[in-house]
Amino acid sequence: MKSISIIKPDDWHLHLREGQILEAVLPATINSFRRAIVMPNLIPPVTNVEMAMTYRQDILNVCPADCVFEPLMTLYLTDHTLPAEVQAAAENPHIHAFKLYPVGVTTNSASGVTSLPDLMPTLEAMAEYQLPLLVHGEVTDPTIDVFDREAVFIEHVMSPLLDAVPGLKVVFEHLTTRQGVEFVIDAGDNVAATLTAHHLLLNRNAMFNQGICPHHYCLPVLKREEHRQALLAVAVSGNHKFFLGTDSAPHDRARKESSCGCGGIFSAPVALELYAQIFEDNNALDKLEGFASLYGPEFYGLPVNQERITLKNEAWQVPTIIQAGTEEIVPLCAGEILRWRLGTDRAEPEKGSGNS
Ligand code: DOR
Ligand code: ZN
Repeated sequence: MKSISIIKPDDWHLHLREGQILEAVLPATINSFRRAIVMPNLIPPVTNVEMAMTYRQDILNVCPADCVFEPLMTLYLTDHTLPAEVQAAAENPHIHAFKLYPVGVTTNSASGVTSLPDLMPTLEAMAEYQLPLLVHGEVTDPTIDVFDREAVFIEHVMSPLLDAVPGLKVVFEHLTTRQGVEFVIDAGDNVAATLTAHHLLLNRNAMFNQGICPHHYCLPVLKREEHRQALLAVAVSGNHKFFLGTDSAPHDRARKESSCGCGGIFSAPVALELYAQIFEDNNALDKLEGFASLYGPEFYGLPVNQERITLKNEAWQVPTIIQAGTEEIVPLCAGEILRWRLGTDRAEPEKGSGNS
């Protein structure tokens, strides 16, 4: 197959940051995605509607005039988020979800939640307004092995949460384990999950390939091959509960290549191309459009995009560095040759999808 044409995808989990990093990374997302759910873990975090509107405008200010990219904003859940904030968010057309970071779980999560049971009225308001809760599903208990944090979270936090608030819409973000896949499949239609390209592509060996590879360190951390296989199987299965979310998370190279390198993989410049490769390798290119462009809007209750994109079977080399003002960002697969490439032609709205 030489090329594939699909409805322009959306990225249902993205870190865009601010300032010079935002300016440097946004073009990669705009090329591949029509909309993106924008994570709120800035410093300070985006905790209310006003902050989200300011951040949204900052993003739009960096978009080229002719671009149709739409940032879908989220609010950062804290111990102090009140039901009134949920109502305000629900009434704002640009805000689409709250994000749960258990305190200390990842980058800029110091203001995260210490006790979900203490937030019941707020969570019930989310269920009432059908505003999804996007979950970073890991416990932070230092006695729990870092590779078990998702499985323990499901048992001790996620299941009790859904028992307590059965109508809550939940997206289990960047799912990484077989247990997570089973949990989401068994849960009601109010529970879905995003899958990253890097968790589909790599197992935990990728962090230790003839030495420590900091650009493969992310949170949740890469898992064993058996878990990657479980993610792959469900990604290409056509199950509508599982859709695309890159979790592209740019960091300055010096912060990654340090004695305490931070978590995050900058995948935006290669993500869609990698998903195509992964689906092709699993004989499921016909399932890519659903995963990338249809199931996400279905869960969020948003229209399907009109635009289309073309991916060509054409080798290209990933840049080794993206310059962001004074900072440098190393993308996933830096310097490697990829076999799928985003078409440069401007995609026009058209009916039906076709391969050639
Ligand atoms: O790898 C990650 N990076 N995981 C997260 O949860 C946060 C993200 C970031 O903001 O850098
Ligand atoms: Zn993230």
